[in-house]
Amino acid sequence: MLEINTEKLDCKKDDVSRLKRLLTELGSERVWRPVFIEGKQVCRGQGFDEDGPQHALKHIDFNNKTVIDFGCNVGHYAFWAAGKGAQACFGVDVDADVIEAARLMAYVLGMQHVDFDVINFLENPLPTQYDVGLLVDFIGKATIAKGRLPAVVRAVDQAVTKEAIVTVRPRYHLQDDLARSEEEIADLQLAPFVHDGWFDLVACLKAWMPGWHFDMATQSDRLNRKFKYSLYLTRI
Ligand SMILES: C[S@@+](CC[C@H](N)C(=O)[O-])C[C@H]1O[C@@H](n2cnc3c(N)ncnc32)[C@H](O)[C@@H]1O
Repeated sequence: MLEINTEKLDCKKDDVSRLKRLLTELGSERVWRPVFIEGKQVCRGQGFDEDGPQHALKHIDFNNKTVIDFGCNVGHYAFWAAGKGAQACFGVDVDADVIEAARLMAYVLGMQHVDFDVINFLENPLPTQYDVGLLVDFIGKATIAKGRLPAVVRAVDQAVTKEAIVTVRPRYHLQDDLARSEEEIADLQLAPFVHDGWFDLVACLKAWMPGWHFDMATQSDRLNRKFKYSLYLTRI
């Protein structure tokens, strides 16, 4: 969760009020993680904390590294990485309103090294490369069923030089989850990763990202409890 306590911050009350207003207008449908201002919850957030990669992120030493947060929403994980010593964090999201809130949050928090922009990273290349990539709660049913996985893989491959955390649900049922027939899945080039009616997302990512080493970062005792697992990728 994001916590903002203005007592300790050198910022104008007007900016904090504007931030509260913005977040309230966005509402819990569009703000993905809980936000607290002055101890009060402004947004409930709909991402399950249990599904977050907090435990997995311990694998990464963020000190002096640059970070890209793909589909950052209001910047939860960009701010998290900044708090862990990242030199600079850049978050991109296709939703201009969440980016406005994320920018204002960075200003209120006095974090000049955390920046955000409106970019559809599936259709546009990022302006530069980063040491670490965060792709949290981005790949889901629609990404797979609408054939967007190749663009996701391309974006991470192009923009990230060293390490990445990617959260995934490991497998999807063709009919119940993806609502796709075997033929439609074959058209998406996903057939090699389907067994007994299940699409194996992790096997697909491994095959399509041969330049990366994959580790399961979610602790083994948490695997059965969690819906989304965290993969820790390092460049080979
Ligand atoms: C499920 S939320 C996850 C947010 C954040 N990563 C987190 O875990 O707190 C997915 C976010 O990705 C953004 N998004 C969806 N498609 C995108 C695209 N093509 N380019 C950039 N952002 C996108 C959405 O607007 C949304 O804010």
